[in-house]
Amino acid sequence: MSQVQDTSSSSQRAPSDALLRVDTTNIYVPAVDEGIARSDLEAHATELKQVHETVATRQRGGLDAEYACLGLHETMPASLVAIEAEAQRLRRFDDIIVIGIGGSNLGAMAVAQALACGDRKKAGPRLHYLDNVDPDLIHDLLARLQPKTTAVITISKSGGTLETATQYMVVRHWLNAALESSSAREHQWVVTDPKVGWLRALAKTEGLRALPVPPRVGGRYSVLSAVGLLPLAASGIDVSELLAGASTNAARCAAGDWRGNPALELAALAYLLDTRKDKRLSIFMPYVNALRLFGDWYRQLWAESLGKRRADGSPAGTLPVTALGAVDQHSQLQMYLESRRDKVFTFIALDRWSHNVAVPLVPADRDAFPYLANKSLNNLIAAEFLATRQVITDYGHPNLTLHLPTLSAHTMGQLIDLYQRATVYAGLLYGINPLDQPAVESGKRLTVQHLQNV
Ligand code: PA5
Repeated sequence: MSQVQDTSSSSQRAPSDALLRVDTTNIYVPAVDEGIARSDLEAHATELKQVHETVATRQRGGLDAEYACLGLHETMPASLVAIEAEAQRLRRFDDIIVIGIGGSNLGAMAVAQALACGDRKKAGPRLHYLDNVDPDLIHDLLARLQPKTTAVITISKSGGTLETATQYMVVRHWLNAALESSSAREHQWVVTDPKVGWLRALAKTEGLRALPVPPRVGGRYSVLSAVGLLPLAASGIDVSELLAGASTNAARCAAGDWRGNPALELAALAYLLDTRKDKRLSIFMPYVNALRLFGDWYRQLWAESLGKRRADGSPAGTLPVTALGAVDQHSQLQMYLESRRDKVFTFIALDRWSHNVAVPLVPADRDAFPYLANKSLNNLIAAEFLATRQVITDYGHPNLTLHLPTLSAHTMGQLIDLYQRATVYAGLLYGINPLDQPAVESGKRLTVQHLQNV
């Protein structure tokens, strides 16, 4: 009998409104010595309420709003017909190359990885991502694919990012070399600003199929726009469920009281643990392989949004560090426990896996591991998470747990909204603009100069 059971059949699937649970017990004293007192949050209740109201005001006005990124669950459903039509055209290909970097691909990569095991409307083409300008990466990918059965989606909000533009040029050349140029054009899609940028101009002159990135929505907050929705829909994911999940979380964060608004509580805790308790490292540790890339998405969102100088010259933001349970128990845990006490931990635990994998024991195994009798890998990873959380708590480190009922488009939508919202709240608490990234521009200018020297 197979030891692997499919537990994802529709009758057993969690209902689409299954809610993510945020357990912050171990971030507060007395659960951990170095935690925050609930009274500390209470002392900031008025400030938190104001921050919430500022976000609510700046979110008003649909796609024209300053914080349009937090309202995409309301504005994007109107574009789903157009997105689904393009996705349908893309589904005739076997493979899709998605070119984009930073906010233009991390969200789609994270959701696609999370849902690789199930929750797809239909089987779709394989997605391949090109972000780094690593010559071997692109060479090896193109060597494996067939131009005739491959499409490319080039995604850039600004429409002029050097890494994205150059990789597109290489892929276009590869398509043109194998196909008639008119047919090569039919393999190309772009997602970019509706009016400005090199990519938009190219789409117009070449007649490429194009979808817009709402002008007020920046890269790392754009996964719920066509930036994420087009590749995900093309791969067969139900993107309306992703938006529905975001909508569910947004509704849970409608209150100005931190006790009834999980994103506000997360932001306040991160801010107070940094500024009052010197917790400068934010360790993000899912006990789910399929959320590894979600960690990368969160890392960019948090770092690029909050890593800034405040008006008084002091630094803002905590450094996000990704880890994976149980693997990093054998790599990072020693340092977490006994080195500097500058860390706050976020665990993600999954309630329901797609598969149940029993541990099959022969008699000699039973002698060596008597406690494994009738246990599964599902039991083991749950025990490993509980043990690590307990030891971290016993050492006094503040930590919180996100309990994900299941991996679905709906729960991923909830997670995305939770973190986007918490990041914006945290930015306002620090008094910085969470939507810009002024410091990265100088590096881009220097790259162009250094191109003359290499
Ligand atoms: O979040 C951001 O704004 C950045 O990480 C961008 O997404 C990244 O620099 C890519 O920019 P663009 O989408 O303009 O190509």
